[in-house]
Amino acid sequence: MKLRGTMSIDHRGHLLIGGCDTVELARQYGTPLYVIDEAALREKAREYRRAFHHYMPDSEVIYAGKALLTSAICRIIDEEQLSLDVVSGGELYTALAAGFPPERIYFHGNNKSPAELTMAVTKGVGRIVVDNLHELRLLQEIASIHGAEAKILLRITPGIKTNTHAYIQTGQFDSKFGFPLGSEETVAAVEWAARRMPNIRLMGLHCHIGSQVMDLMPFRLAAEHMLRFAAELRARMGLKLAELDLGGGLGIRYHEGDEPPTPAEYAQVICQTVTALCRELGLEVPKIMVEPGRSIVGEAGTTLYTVGAIKDVPNVRRYVAVDGGMADNPRVALYQAVYEACLANKAAEEAAEVVTIAGRCCESGDILVREVMLPPVEPGDILAVFSTGAYNYSMASNYNHLPRPAMVLVYEGKSDVIVERETYEDLIRLDRIPPRLAVSQDCAAGGSKSAAAAR
Ligand code: LLP
Repeated sequence: MKLRGTMSIDHRGHLLIGGCDTVELARQYGTPLYVIDEAALREKAREYRRAFHHYMPDSEVIYAGKALLTSAICRIIDEEQLSLDVVSGGELYTALAAGFPPERIYFHGNNKSPAELTMAVTKGVGRIVVDNLHELRLLQEIASIHGAEAKILLRITPGIKTNTHAYIQTGQFDSKFGFPLGSEETVAAVEWAARRMPNIRLMGLHCHIGSQVMDLMPFRLAAEHMLRFAAELRARMGLKLAELDLGGGLGIRYHEGDEPPTPAEYAQVICQTVTALCRELGLEVPKIMVEPGRSIVGEAGTTLYTVGAIKDVPNVRRYVAVDGGMADNPRVALYQAVYEACLANKAAEEAAEVVTIAGRCCESGDILVREVMLPPVEPGDILAVFSTGAYNYSMASNYNHLPRPAMVLVYEGKSDVIVERETYEDLIRLDRIPPRLAVSQDCAAGGSKSAAAAR
């Protein structure tokens, strides 16, 4: 087991994160609990900025909020001077409410609604990344109504297949995202955006090839395809594009054997490829942007659970059930993701047995870790699952009406709640009972008969 970020193990064998005893965090805040290592998160953000600025001082690192977006996370991303990629009115609202400067916000999405586009235009977001022709026309109309100029990037599908789970590949031609490279319709869309839409200002191109990509070659290829397309546009219509956004997707370490490239290696490949190819093609080097989500926040997150029932299926396996599961981390059920875990209260003890960590949802597929070596497990132990910072809370649900867990930020021995634990009241806060189904006053005290049944 490799410790991440500021993790260490103290003299009692407890796992510490950000100088906080995770066993104590579990006691104080309850479980399941998302723990975010603030120093690790800030360090990744800085590593990215340093790496890209080293090669290209005007480059921009845009944190992809879909990985994890809360008000406090927005504050940290702003403080670290990263920009922010949002993908819905809800994410945009969260960012603006947290005081994130709109001009550093990039608005993504393959089917933005008129209301969302209006919000983006009137709030003055920095760039709208336009996915399709329908959106382009709609945006022109909305910007014109508001007397605004919308600065946009066009999302291009570069036709690159990445070696990652099929559900998170996005760069291949058969994709719901973007304008396909190599089609005349795409060239026509660029021309419309650049020349024929008075309220649209085309700043550049965008692509995103996939997520949890562990190999740098596809990123290099994507940069090359995009630059060759930029050269074609210049040749065909004299168009100069100032910006090139190459998306996110760099992988992280989930388990032993995962050896992702570092942000520095990623920056080097991208920046050197762009510089060399621009020289060859006689293009001015555009401003380069990247949109990492997972690789900024993923390893900074750990989820704590309490062990409950332990069940031996003779000659098959030992199931260790915890008090969370697919509702707080759907990635295992969705993508067969493999996680590493340890017992936070026995972190120094020798791992002695292979067990299966089961969630508490009513699904056989609700398994958090299929095989993990742990010290002898007992009910009440605290299980820590690593690398859960990205796409866990942001994809969490209330399946089985489980309240979503709290989230704490830990830093130099202090912990702060940044998302409160949901309550049972929260679960029914939006429910409404039509009057005809209301519990009648007569029955309210003793039973559950509806008004109709009571009549
Ligand atoms: N930019 C765009 C346009 C994206 O669609 C994404 C992710 C990113 C940036 C950030 O990618 P990252 O650096 O985080 O890989 N739920 C899946 C991942 C979906 C990624 C969607 N788009 C998972 O849990 O693996």
